[in-house]
Amino acid sequence: MRDLSLHVLDIVENSIAAGAKNIKIIINENIEKDVLTLTIQDNGKGIDKKTLDKVIDPFYSTKKIRRIGLGLSMLAQATKEADGSFNIESQKGKGTAITATFVYSHIDRKPIGDMAETLITLVATQGLNVDFIYEHHKNSHGFIFDTKSIKQELKDLPLNDPEVINHLRRNLNEELEKL
Ligand SMILES: Nc1ncnc2c1ncn2[C@@H]1O[C@H](COP(=O)(O)OP(=O)(O)OP(=O)(O)O)[C@@H](O)[C@H]1O
Ligand SMILES: [Mg+2]
Repeated sequence: MRDLSLHVLDIVENSIAAGAKNIKIIINENIEKDVLTLTIQDNGKGIDKKTLDKVIDPFYSTKKIRRIGLGLSMLAQATKEADGSFNIESQKGKGTAITATFVYSHIDRKPIGDMAETLITLVATQGLNVDFIYEHHKNSHGFIFDTKSIKQELKDLPLNDPEVINHLRRNLNEELEKL
């Protein structure tokens, strides 16, 4: 996977498969400390302690069809390549939080990629069932994208309406450019 935005799409797929209704994605670009942090939190069914040690093993998966689980191990590998760290915390019945850090300036650190496209894909396909919060901080700047409050503003218009989606895409791209 070339970009971190594609990893995000993949990791969020795990959250959705785990029945999460609220998913929070946080990107923090701390250039002064030379650290990029990616956090994905969900309120899905969680993972029990015994299983937690196994989930970043590429041969562990609860999928029935293709018993190989690459999502988490690929992200863990990407952090390793950029001298970062990977952590997963989970509580059965409560949810899961994944934190990936990278040395920001590391030559092998993957680019963030197109986060607007990732979010729009998630909102357009899952936005009626799942709420997303996206926070992006870069040094002292930042913004929050919150589908719950967007839904309130939209009143009767559905979040996946094509015009709404176009508007949200423009909006996200504007916010990202301002960072
Ligand atoms: N957010 C989550 N909540 C609950 N369980 C999770 C979560 N993320 C991962 N898991 C568990 O960890 C396993 C491994 O996840 P991983 O993404 O590495 O592989 P996969 O989803 O099984 O397959 P792939 O990502 O390659 O399609 C999953 O099968 C699932 O059992
Ligand atoms: Mg997966």
